[in-house]
Amino acid sequence: MISKCLSPVAGYGTRFLPATKSIPKEMLPVVDKPLIHYAVEEALDAGMVNNAFVTGRGKHAIADHFDISYELETEISGTGKEEKLIDIRKLLDNCTFAYTPQKEMKGLGHAVLAGKNMIGDQAFGVILADDLCITEPGEDSVMKQMADLYEEHQCSIIAIEEVPKENISSYGVIDAEMINDNLFRVNDMVEKPPADEAPSNLAVIGRYILTPDIFDLLSDTKPGAGGEIQLTDAIKEQAKNGKVLAYKFKGRRFDCGSVEGFVEATNYCYENIFKKR
Ligand code: UTP
Repeated sequence: MISKCLSPVAGYGTRFLPATKSIPKEMLPVVDKPLIHYAVEEALDAGMVNNAFVTGRGKHAIADHFDISYELETEISGTGKEEKLIDIRKLLDNCTFAYTPQKEMKGLGHAVLAGKNMIGDQAFGVILADDLCITEPGEDSVMKQMADLYEEHQCSIIAIEEVPKENISSYGVIDAEMINDNLFRVNDMVEKPPADEAPSNLAVIGRYILTPDIFDLLSDTKPGAGGEIQLTDAIKEQAKNGKVLAYKFKGRRFDCGSVEGFVEATNYCYENIFKKR
C-alpha cells in the first residue's frame, strides 16, 4: 500500500498576485478550507498518511495550518465553534508532515526530485493542490481510485481528462493506446503542444502515482519546455522503458491555479458541499 504523498508547493502563483505575495497559493481557501487541506484529505482517503511538501516561500503558513494552535483551541474549546476544527483535527491525528525547500525554481520535475529523500525507494502519490478534484459523496477520491489501480498494475499512473482543443496547449498531452474506456497505456507525452500538434485531447492533470525509478530519470532529464525540468519528460522515459498508465478519473477537476477555475470551484463547493453540510 502506498503511504506517502508528495505535494510541490514552491510555485510563485503569479496569476493570483498580489494575494500570493506573502502566502502560498495553496493556502488560498475554497470556501472555508485552503487548497492544500483538500489535497491532504484526498491523500488520506487513499491511505497516504505521510505528506511530503516541497516548499518555496511562505512555507510557515502551510506548516502552521498542519499544526496545533493552542491559543485558538483553548479559546473556542467547549463552544459551538469547536466543531469548525473537526476536519483539521482529523488530519493532524492521522497524518505526518515533512518539508524540504526547492532551492531553485526549475520546474515541476525539479520540485519532485527535491522530494526524493522524503520519499525513499517506494511508489508515491503526487498531488498538485491547485488542481482541486471533487468526487460525489460516497465515491472514492481521485487519488484513492488511482491507488486501487496501482495495487492491480504496480506501475506509474497519471490522471487525465478530455480537454477542448482550444485549451490543450496549456497541458501535458498523451499519445496512448486505449485499454478500456477509462484506462490507456502511454506511448508518448508532449508538454504544452500547439493545438494542431497535440497527439490527442487527453490532458495530464495534477494527480500522479509514480514508481521510485522516476528519481533517476529526473536526475538525467535536461531542461525542456520553458527551460524547466519537466516531470512529463521523465514520465515519457518511464513509458518508453516500461509501463505507464493514464487514467480518466471519475469526478470533477477545477483548475484553481487560474482565477476563473478558482471562482468556479468556489461556487461549486459552496452550493454542493458547504450548503449541504
Ligand atoms: P504552476 O506553474 O501551475 O504554478 O505549477 P505556479 O508557477 O505557482 O503558477 P503561476 O503560473 O505563477 O500562477 C504547478 C504546481 O507545481 C508547483 C507549483 O507550486 C504548483 O503546485 N511547482 C512548479 C513547484 O513546486 N516548483 C516549480 O519549480 C514549479
